[in-house]
Amino acid sequence: MSSIATQGLQFREPLIFERSSPGRVASSLPRSATTAPGNVALPEGLLRKKAPRWPEVSEPEAVRHFIRLSQQNYGIDTGFFPLGSCTMKYNPKINEDVARMEGFADLHPMAPESWIQGALSLYWELERYLAEITGFSAVTLQPAAGAHGEYTGMALIRAYLMHTEGKPRTKVLVPDTAHGTNPATLAMLGYETVTLKSSDRGVVLPEDVLAAMNEDIAGIMMTNPNTLGLFEENVKEVADIVHAKGGLVYCDGANMNALLGRARPGDMGVDAMHLNLHKTFSTPHGGGGPGSGPVCVHDRLAPYLPIPRVEKDGSTFRLVSDKPLTIGRVKAYLGNFGMHVRAYTYIRELGREGLKLAGEMAVLNANYLRVKLAERYHVVHDRACMHEVVLTDKLQKKAADIETRDIAKGLIDRGFHPPTTYFPICVQNALMIEPTETESKETLDRFVEAMFDIDAESKVDPQRLKTAPHLPLVGRLDETRAVRKPILRWRPVETPTAGQ
Ligand SMILES: Cc1ncc(COP(=O)(O)O)c(C=O)c1O
Repeated sequence: MSSIATQGLQFREPLIFERSSPGRVASSLPRSATTAPGNVALPEGLLRKKAPRWPEVSEPEAVRHFIRLSQQNYGIDTGFFPLGSCTMKYNPKINEDVARMEGFADLHPMAPESWIQGALSLYWELERYLAEITGFSAVTLQPAAGAHGEYTGMALIRAYLMHTEGKPRTKVLVPDTAHGTNPATLAMLGYETVTLKSSDRGVVLPEDVLAAMNEDIAGIMMTNPNTLGLFEENVKEVADIVHAKGGLVYCDGANMNALLGRARPGDMGVDAMHLNLHKTFSTPHGGGGPGSGPVCVHDRLAPYLPIPRVEKDGSTFRLVSDKPLTIGRVKAYLGNFGMHVRAYTYIRELGREGLKLAGEMAVLNANYLRVKLAERYHVVHDRACMHEVVLTDKLQKKAADIETRDIAKGLIDRGFHPPTTYFPICVQNALMIEPTETESKETLDRFVEAMFDIDAESKVDPQRLKTAPHLPLVGRLDETRAVRKPILRWRPVETPTAGQ
């Protein structure tokens, strides 16, 4: 049994609060002048009447508590993380070293231009690399996440329509295979979403776009490759139809990792697209940030890009805000600069051929899993996929009433992070698997073995799967209750000695 089990997480250690013993300390600091009796600088009303009820523990106990907590996390540095749509690829440590160089990490965001020429040069070059990789002419690095990039890109389209037609139009076409953030972005901008049902092949059909498109529709927002892990093969024809009615084409390019070095959305009729640096360009993911979602555009949208723009004047870089058509700022300063340094390092490290190989390996790994897993699982579109593959629980459900959730929890007991579950929503009980290019064949084989083992267990002991996971410290949670009645704060048990 690997990772989770061998990390010893099955043993429940006493919590730090349970170890507390009155008078035990982890440090002994000299009494400060302000806290000495009779020498109090704080007003009487602000003083505590009772000492706070912190756990009282020795230094080794405090250290063990925090180290143990850090080991209870499952991350990309501890194991395979096939979370579809999230692209949990390995984050190279060289990126971290470069981002921590003092010339980058210690910069003050308000330092004058003349002091930050190196940083501005990296920023300017990264914009150009991303434009070259995607086939667009201009880029903003300001947005802080993929969804923020979507918002920025669609705000550019809105501003363009306002400027050229005097009104933003009211609706936007969104295929049912788009990422969930797309309709949310549109709602934030005041657009109504018109959902397009994808075809039996899992892609958008030009005839459906033609039937839906009119002069009140601002354009289409397509995720490509889409959330079924399929390439939208009709994108050029779709773009021609949308453009003929004066609309614009937005591409959710968060899955660009599948196309690297092979295809450029900017060459396919797309007008604007965002990238997720924390997916395609190996920067770390963070809950709600700090990510980066640069937006790439063609010339006609460039005048609307957020300010300040970094421009090159001879050999000097300048921050320029005098742009009359700009939508303004979307993020403080220049965005999450540390992420830009990491993505720049990744691009320079891999180079043209390396990036292409990364894209190819991501697609190869997903197809390897597709073919292997099809032996025991239902694959929704069993044809060549891009960077991810979508399965369902159909076979296990029919044979043993085992659901997607049970399969995911069974994987935890076998030492793997589960794939994305119940997404995309256009597929019933989906299991969305994205291996990424950074996993070896041996790891993929172990994953397939675990999936086969789950299928076998579903036939002999379905109850064990229905109550999984059994090995980690935390078992199956009541997820609905956890959301509706979250317990966000630890409160001490009242004891006669507490507070003395
Ligand atoms: C296809 C797609 N679009 C948009 C997003 C949203 O990106 P973020 O979570 O950075 O806001 C994601 C996130 O993984 C995605 O996979």
